[in-house]
Amino acid sequence: MAKTRSTFFCQNCGAQSAKWIGKCPSCGEWNTYVEEIVQKSDDAKTPGIQSTSRRVSKPQPVQEISLNTDHRYDIGDKELNRVLGNGIVPGSLILFGGEPGIGKSTLMLQVALRVRKMKVLYVSGEESEQQIRMRAERIGMEGADCHILTETNTQQIFQQIEALQPTLLIIDSIQTLHTSHIESSPGSVSQIRECAAELLRYAKESGTPVFLIGHITKDGSLAGPKVLEHMVDTVLQFEGDRNHVYRLLRTTKNRFGPTNELGIYEMQGSGLREVSNPSEILVTSRDEPVSGIAIAATMEGMRPLLIETQALVSSAAYGTPQRSSTGFDLRRLSMLLAVLEKRCGFRLAAKDVFLNITGGIKVEDPAVDLAVVCAVLSSNADIPIPQKTCFSAEVGLSGEIRPVNRIDQRLSEAEKLGYEQIFISRYNTKGVDQKSYKIKIHPVGKVEEVFGILFG
Ligand code: TYD
Ligand code: MG
Repeated sequence: MAKTRSTFFCQNCGAQSAKWIGKCPSCGEWNTYVEEIVQKSDDAKTPGIQSTSRRVSKPQPVQEISLNTDHRYDIGDKELNRVLGNGIVPGSLILFGGEPGIGKSTLMLQVALRVRKMKVLYVSGEESEQQIRMRAERIGMEGADCHILTETNTQQIFQQIEALQPTLLIIDSIQTLHTSHIESSPGSVSQIRECAAELLRYAKESGTPVFLIGHITKDGSLAGPKVLEHMVDTVLQFEGDRNHVYRLLRTTKNRFGPTNELGIYEMQGSGLREVSNPSEILVTSRDEPVSGIAIAATMEGMRPLLIETQALVSSAAYGTPQRSSTGFDLRRLSMLLAVLEKRCGFRLAAKDVFLNITGGIKVEDPAVDLAVVCAVLSSNADIPIPQKTCFSAEVGLSGEIRPVNRIDQRLSEAEKLGYEQIFISRYNTKGVDQKSYKIKIHPVGKVEEVFGILFG
């Protein structure tokens, strides 16, 4: 039986050393040495899988590989199902990342309690059984086939898996696991990588889908080595403002489905509720119009979404005017303000500008540009934009209004929600049958034209 041997590798240049050293002699970098397993003892192979069930791979013609596409498990959560691409693929390894306190454990426990026809093992290295039980009570646990294990050693976990034979495994979190084959402490690069590799092997060999909860570092990337993201099949990100009730679920990588889908949840006292018609909540209904508010028809993934942009423009109290934005790229806001100043002659240089996208949502769709510009102009002039008006266009550097994709879907959604007029780019009208819409379409080419129509 071969013994487990580990060696230290420089993460920068790949140099190797038997002992840990602070400075790499070959590339000169500091603190880059990380311990890794070189050879494994036999018992280091994934337990829980009999060696007879191990498949020996042979090359086979691509046409003859049997397709199992129709076999996806329904995970019992509409939003998560859709974001994953219509259910979960057997044997897939899914990394689920998010900031602390955002609701990762809540969502995963909710899945564990609500999924049907699956035996779930929820392994937690962060909370005690009692804490999990209390949370399960908040969420509701009727008819659940869910087992809780508080353990952090992977060998122990695999022993329990062998005994229980679950059909869905959830690990909370990958940073708390450790394997006995490596000396370094839990959460270190080599531990994370090795534990993930063991779970990957288990998922692929047994066909059990595995969710790994992962922490996120301050700068928003997943804590741990980048290689973790390469190893897994799908990377999910849970985001949102902790002080707001809405949470967004996105995929940043997906081997078995789309990466641009978006799931929306609302955090309630009894867990996370799926939001099936987000536009209605994100836009506040008001009795009378207020200045500085414009509605944008955006797309998040394949789903049209109407969101509210709010701007406040006021005279700067200090010498340097402030620009601040939540949910919208600050550099993009500065660019739009510069366009208004230079190309359209609005004097905004001496004004403070604050921008907010309501609901704690972050938008990246360039189609919000025109709504942002109109919200700023409306606040600056202190004239409200007429109600039931929305916008969907990008603004270019010369002040021209540029077309956006999927205009038909945006128009239909705006019409469905009762909007009466929409401003789109002149170049977007090709192929759009304006007569088939009840909503009034204003094709515009320049920012000044919009200003003229809105504020006369
Ligand atoms: P949690 O799932 O522990 O976050 P994470 O695992 O990402 O760190 O979520 C904790 C927050 O969620 C906490 O602030 C309380 C809140 N919460 C609710 O509002 N309702 C609930 O039903 C539950 C279980 C949690
Ligand atoms: Mg947690």
